[in-house]
Amino acid sequence: MIIAIDGPAASGKGTLARRLAAHLGLKHLDTGLLYRAVAAELLNRGLPLDDEATAAEVASGLDTGALDRDMLSAHEVGEAASKVAVMPAVRAALLKLQRDFAATGAVLDGRDIGTVICPDADVKLFVTASAQVRARRRTDELAARGKAADFDAILADLVKRDARDAGRAVAPLKQTADAHLLDTSEMDIETAFRKAVDIIDSI
Ligand code: DC
Repeated sequence: MIIAIDGPAASGKGTLARRLAAHLGLKHLDTGLLYRAVAAELLNRGLPLDDEATAAEVASGLDTGALDRDMLSAHEVGEAASKVAVMPAVRAALLKLQRDFAATGAVLDGRDIGTVICPDADVKLFVTASAQVRARRRTDELAARGKAADFDAILADLVKRDARDAGRAVAPLKQTADAHLLDTSEMDIETAFRKAVDIIDSI
């Protein structure tokens, strides 16, 4: 079984994907980490973020066994990831890796799983929430980890990132006709999880 979960930043799709994978006994791939890892390597090596050939070369040589979620979760890395993610050659370099991962059954979450990576997925979920709610969650999450968090700055960043992820020419974030919409604006994670399980059970 392949479950494709797409949605904007901070929509809760990652948490939901992890819980569904554990519940169903499937592997899970947070595909955002791949784009983040490419961006982090460019940043660490002082390479430009706007050179497609260099970024694609880094993407081709990515060591997926060494993805450090903590380091990759940094805000600057997410911003940079959103920039390298607009490059067709980077996306092409990461395509096979994601399809191979999905081939034996998995939950994948990202922006283009239902549209490009796994268009034949058994279940597609499009997880979203209002920008205000997502910014509030991100602010609370950072504050809980003792990090500085300014709601207005976070909201502005999210809106900018949404526009880049949904407005790009290649594999933009979008809900397919066969995807089930889960708007979590007024749902906690437990409710979202139960709704997702109901959808999967009904297939
Ligand atoms: O979900 P995230 O914040 O970790 O993703 C980081 C960036 O990577 C996001 O802004 C867009 C990009 N991305 C993508 O283009 N396609 C995916 N399948 C996953 C992430």
